Amino acid sequence: MADLPIEWSTAHTAKLRDNYYSASQSKFVPFAQPLVFKRGSMQYLWDVEGNRYIDLLGMNVCISVGHAHPVVVNAAMAQAQELTHCTTMFYHPAPAHLAEELAAVMPAGPQWVVHFTNSGAEAIDLALAMARTYSGNLDMLALRTAYHGPTAAAQSVTGIAGWRHPGMPGNVAFVADPNPYRGVFGADTDPYLDEIDRVIQSATTGSVAGMVIESVQGYGGVVPMPPGYLAGAAARVRAAGGVYIADEVQSGFGRTGEHMWGFEADDVVPDIVVMAKGIGNGFPLGAVVAQRQVAEPMSEKFMFHTYGANPTSCAAGRAVLQVIREEKLQQNARQVGATLLETLQALKQKYPIIGDVRGKGLMLAMEFVSDPQKKTPDKQITSRVFEHCREEGLILSKSGPYQSCLRMVPPLCLSMDDVEPIARGLDRALAKAS
Ligand SMILES: Cc1ncc(COP(=O)(O)O)c(C=O)c1O
Repeated sequence: MADLPIEWSTAHTAKLRDNYYSASQSKFVPFAQPLVFKRGSMQYLWDVEGNRYIDLLGMNVCISVGHAHPVVVNAAMAQAQELTHCTTMFYHPAPAHLAEELAAVMPAGPQWVVHFTNSGAEAIDLALAMARTYSGNLDMLALRTAYHGPTAAAQSVTGIAGWRHPGMPGNVAFVADPNPYRGVFGADTDPYLDEIDRVIQSATTGSVAGMVIESVQGYGGVVPMPPGYLAGAAARVRAAGGVYIADEVQSGFGRTGEHMWGFEADDVVPDIVVMAKGIGNGFPLGAVVAQRQVAEPMSEKFMFHTYGANPTSCAAGRAVLQVIREEKLQQNARQVGATLLETLQALKQKYPIIGDVRGKGLMLAMEFVSDPQKKTPDKQITSRVFEHCREEGLILSKSGPYQSCLRMVPPLCLSMDDVEPIARGLDRALAKAS
């Protein structure tokens, strides 16, 4: 059979998108002018004209161990050629092995069990259903400026207006985000923990199903939860009858450099952990990993994700864990991330438009302000820096509730050799935008 023709020109691709994508899909574009990527290898991307970029976005945090990493691609291809899909009601060793391997990288103590999904939002939906089924309570707590996904239930716990559509389910009370830079209660952790108690007392029945928290807020503009917050929140939610759900979709798989999971920074063990994106290095996969007793009441009903536990994606997932371990990518994230953070701090000294730099490991951000004293978010300057970064061969992400942050979540294989060109490119982009 002849290969299907593919027309690579940017203009043609843009025209097809304009004509055939619905507004809900076509709205989400980063740059003023279209950009077509043709190839990726490890931390680098090439556009259709052959220009090379450093992918500081990791294709939206999905590329954890590197674009087209041969170990992951070969594992997935071998599985796809043998049996591309096997519906979950039949037994297959690839997802079964991955479940065992994921349980092995969770904190010791609890007995962990796994439910595979196709995406992070599906995993969030399941985690919310699990928390409500287990606790017998309806009310859920979530953080302002959180992002948990596009499905109805995931939107219901998302605290950024730009991602919320009409008619999403209720029974969610929002709690102030503990953002040391611009949070409503300042830089201390305790007032934010007191706020959880107040919200439980005032905006719920007094009993809750749980609270879902990104260990480091991603789209919210890379906001690491301050020390003591996750442990304190878990204690308060459990006292009100609920469970603590850790959303590790962005912060998991060694990205923070310190630990495999972001919540481990606070020495707290969640009841439910949600993961996706980097778990498959680009192959669609998500998972809910829960303590056995929390997951058990779900056995009363069926929950079937058609491609959940798909052996091709699970073969990729197994390879991802192997590569993280053997290529010591968590340590790499810690070392390269620390050097990159120093670079950002130096740029902050030079450019007053940078109000804040923050993050850990390879999960970093700069926040732009028009008035450093008032911390007035500056969406326009953020957008200008972002566009100039493209000219410098750097792909980042505009993030944050005010679109005033540039987020960096590159593949974990970013190297020390990349830091210099990144620093130079950012410096030039900031100079042009200022
Ligand atoms: C923290 C977090 N949770 C959940 C999701 C939803 O994942 P997905 O887009 O795979 O549905 C995302 C997606 O960006 C995310 O960043």
